Amino acid sequence: MAYEMIEVRVEAEKVGVITLNRPKALNALNDQLMNELGDALKQFDADKRIGCMIITGSEKAFAAGADIGAMAKYSFADAYGGDYITRNWETIRSIRKPVIAAVSGYALGGGCELAMMCDFIIAADNARFGQPEIKLGVIPGAGGTQRLPRAVGKAKAMDMALTGRMMSAEEAERASLVSRVVPLDKLMEETLGAAIIISGFSQLAVMAAKESVNRAFEGSLNDGVMFERRLFHALFATNDQKEGMDAFVNKREAKFTHS
Ligand code: HXC
Repeated sequence: MAYEMIEVRVEAEKVGVITLNRPKALNALNDQLMNELGDALKQFDADKRIGCMIITGSEKAFAAGADIGAMAKYSFADAYGGDYITRNWETIRSIRKPVIAAVSGYALGGGCELAMMCDFIIAADNARFGQPEIKLGVIPGAGGTQRLPRAVGKAKAMDMALTGRMMSAEEAERASLVSRVVPLDKLMEETLGAAIIISGFSQLAVMAAKESVNRAFEGSLNDGVMFERRLFHALFATNDQKEGMDAFVNKREAKFTHS
């Protein structure tokens, strides 16, 4: 697939970087962009060299939301019956390798939801997060009312969803929406650093860790603990577990083969 609304590159031979590139509309997320993003994520997920992915935008906007112009005239039948707005957003949930959102500027509406669908968010100090859908007579439609309260708690999630106000990067870090805040000019360096660290580990262990942490958001504590235990035990069947533990015991660097 030839991409027009995203740019794709590989860094350090092991990190897949996807840059949302629709600057005139502050990276508003339309169907074409979401289809291209889904395709690029699937390609990187299937690429053995790649251990981690990064989604980023521009300095001014990660993404200012779903494309309001494209949605403005939708009927219920268009929205519910069609194969777009949110249905084509599901691809990201099927990606097994970690995906980090590197957010600078606006992450609003669907942009904030897209960032929250990633495994964690590293924010530049100019990042602004918000769910302003209420101002358009709708509500978040790609998981915002579910992921935001899980990340920041009910009070702040209600505040954001009901008033439509924006949160600064500093507030987002205090509220645990983002894992780190860094100066704008260090955003890619810091995010790439994290992605390169992740890519150096056993892909099997990394995928298991991602799957297990996600489980914490999807079921009861008991189910989650059982799930984690099964995966933990299963990893003892991998070469990477033998290699990782032997390397530690013998005080040498581990060489993971993802097997
Ligand atoms: C379509 C958008 C857009 C959007 C910005 N633009 N956001 N186009 N959809 N979500 C376009 C503007 O129309 C404008 O185009 C250009 O980008 C620059 O935007 P300005 O408004 O001129 O920039 P600025 O004054 O700096 O204000 C930035 C902003 C504002 C605060 C981010 O653009 C804004 O409020 N945007 C809408 C944010 C929003 O409501 N998002 C939620 C969308 S609903 P022209 O052609 O005039 O230059 C949603 C639902 C998700 O996301 C549901 C799940 C799929």
